[in-house]
Amino acid sequence: MSVEQRVQNHFHADAHRFDAIYEDDKSLLVRWIDGVWRGVVRKRFELTLELLAPLTGKTLLDVGCGSGRYCIAYAERGATRVVGVDFAAAMIDLANEHARQAEVSDRCEFRAGIFPDAVPEETFDASSAMGFFDYVADPVPIVARMRELTRSKMILSFPKSREWRAPVRRVRFWFNGCPLFLYSEQRVREILRESGVTAYDWIELDRDYIVAARL
Ligand SMILES: C[S@@+](CC[C@H](N)C(=O)[O-])C[C@H]1O[C@@H](n2cnc3c(N)ncnc32)[C@H](O)[C@@H]1O
Repeated sequence: MSVEQRVQNHFHADAHRFDAIYEDDKSLLVRWIDGVWRGVVRKRFELTLELLAPLTGKTLLDVGCGSGRYCIAYAERGATRVVGVDFAAAMIDLANEHARQAEVSDRCEFRAGIFPDAVPEETFDASSAMGFFDYVADPVPIVARMRELTRSKMILSFPKSREWRAPVRRVRFWFNGCPLFLYSEQRVREILRESGVTAYDWIELDRDYIVAARL
């Protein structure tokens, strides 16, 4: 089975558990576990909204949109068109459901499929791919395509390879049959150079490197 197929299967089965990281209604123990192991998920969400503000009147692309939390937040902050793409069908179902509940379905389009094939031929003011490169064997063509589709700002996250939680994460994903890719700072900078991204801010956030690229 290919890397993509295994990642897709994993997130199709894991969609509800992953999405629950964004919910506050859970036991103290689960909240503590999420805080230690997955606290970065909510931290990078808040940081991305700060980095992309103001969003009024903007168009956005979110690659590996998962359950649509970013897309919905973009639309709630005034974006006029948001496209989210993800190849896990259960994630896209959740994204559509959340968008309906938040009453932003008219501004959010969720596409079920692989990036970049599933994205329309149009450009966006800004784009994001958060918690996505953890599952991508070759990021260069993906970052290069995102750059072509984006006019102004691009926010990307890459998980650190040298970090105290990395060995446990590797074992957990191996055990679950899902490929996981971790990065050194040098490798991320090479990926950016090979993708043609030259101007960017570099932010260290918990177990991730965050890149805020200016195009
Ligand atoms: C950890 S989730 C992150 C979701 C969302 N960005 C967030 O942070 O809430 C990663 C998502 O990327 C999707 N994904 C990974 N590789 C993909 C690819 N090549 N094309 C489309 N989706 C992909 C997975 O299905 C999964 O839903």
